[in-house]
Amino acid sequence: MDDYLKANPVRRRLRRISAGERRDEALAFLRQFARETGMEAAALKQREAEVMASLKARGHYDHSADELAFGARLAWRNHGRCIGRLRWKSLEVVDCRTISDPDAMAQRMIAHLDAAHGDGQITSIISIFAPATPDAVPAVIESPQLVQYAGYLGDGGHITGDRLGIEAARTAASLGWQPPARPGPHDILPFIIRDAGGQRHLYELPPGVVRQIAITHPERPALKALGIHWYSVPLISNMVLTIGGIDYPCAPFNGHYMATEIASRNLADIRRYDLLPAIADALGIDRAHDPLWADVTLTELNRAVLHSFAAAGVAITDHHAESASYMAFVMQEQRAGRVPSGEWSWIVPPQASAACPVFHLPMVNLHAVPNFYVSRQLDGGQLRLDRSHDRMNRWQRRFHRWRDRWRDWRRRRDHLWQRH
Ligand code: ARG
Repeated sequence: MDDYLKANPVRRRLRRISAGERRDEALAFLRQFARETGMEAAALKQREAEVMASLKARGHYDHSADELAFGARLAWRNHGRCIGRLRWKSLEVVDCRTISDPDAMAQRMIAHLDAAHGDGQITSIISIFAPATPDAVPAVIESPQLVQYAGYLGDGGHITGDRLGIEAARTAASLGWQPPARPGPHDILPFIIRDAGGQRHLYELPPGVVRQIAITHPERPALKALGIHWYSVPLISNMVLTIGGIDYPCAPFNGHYMATEIASRNLADIRRYDLLPAIADALGIDRAHDPLWADVTLTELNRAVLHSFAAAGVAITDHHAESASYMAFVMQEQRAGRVPSGEWSWIVPPQASAACPVFHLPMVNLHAVPNFYVSRQLDGGQLRLDRSHDRMNRWQRRFHRWRDRWRDWRRRRDHLWQRH
């Protein structure tokens, strides 16, 4: 193994599970796949044996195309931070496991973005590239999203663009990116692919593939003059997909926007565009005398974003509709006899929270696999098998509880000792 593989920065983000845990997760996944897709008992037995043999021989096994598609949808269904999971079955899964050349991956991602936007309806798609194996970590996309706006820190501390994109713009520039001669607030950053050898490659998104929507207000024309834009498709590209003990470190996926993401956070957050005061002024909202000026501005900005996307024929939802759809998802899961995972601080919208039914809903995040995570240090370390559906006697239950505790303890210890 060469030095790069030993200290591989992608490997350091991946879950570290023992061979036993990998076997457990593989078996549990195959059984869930069989249960939910109506697979024959004999076929399951055979598949289990095949996978166990492969894990024993090379510490790895390959998912069938159907297992991969089901696993990706299941990972979405299990992800406690997403409010849009009612649509989990509709995820379009594109098997890209044989594409490993960075140029070809970039090509595929441009096609993914284009297909996701489509005619504006926006289809949820995931492109799944090669998994990590015991002796190789494949090429990955390093950028958190495929489309991102640059941020620039000018002389005297003046900031142009998205504060979240300042570091990314510097990184891109250090790799040879030429920012526009006059940096603007909505310059699209190139995305970065780190190949299997650790080399980074920069890719520009061709003009025309990124659709941008000018934000205007239905009644107040002054907002348009601020020149605010947003892109149509959020395409998350830095999350690892984990299925049945196998990690896919490059599995970019997209959804469509909920207006609060853009209006209440991206454009409003102090650490992002920080535009509330300017927008309030443009809308003629009295900041000096109205203590609720920010609330009014946020609501009007949400109205503007919803209006602008609708006018452009691009799919978007509002937080009330999306909360209702989440309640339907919870009901659907409960009817199926499952406990849906939910992380309250992520599910409750940043706008009109208590007026949305999700605010009043008790939630628990089971951190069940399959799932998506960013890194084992951040969120991947908590992922585990959900055994609440297994039929076990109390001794078996006790055994699993202790073993899970032991594994947690070991993980925490490794974390403290920096054994990343
Ligand atoms: N919040 C992120 C953004 O504003 C996107 C996260 C995923 N959102 C989605 N609707 N699928 O860009």
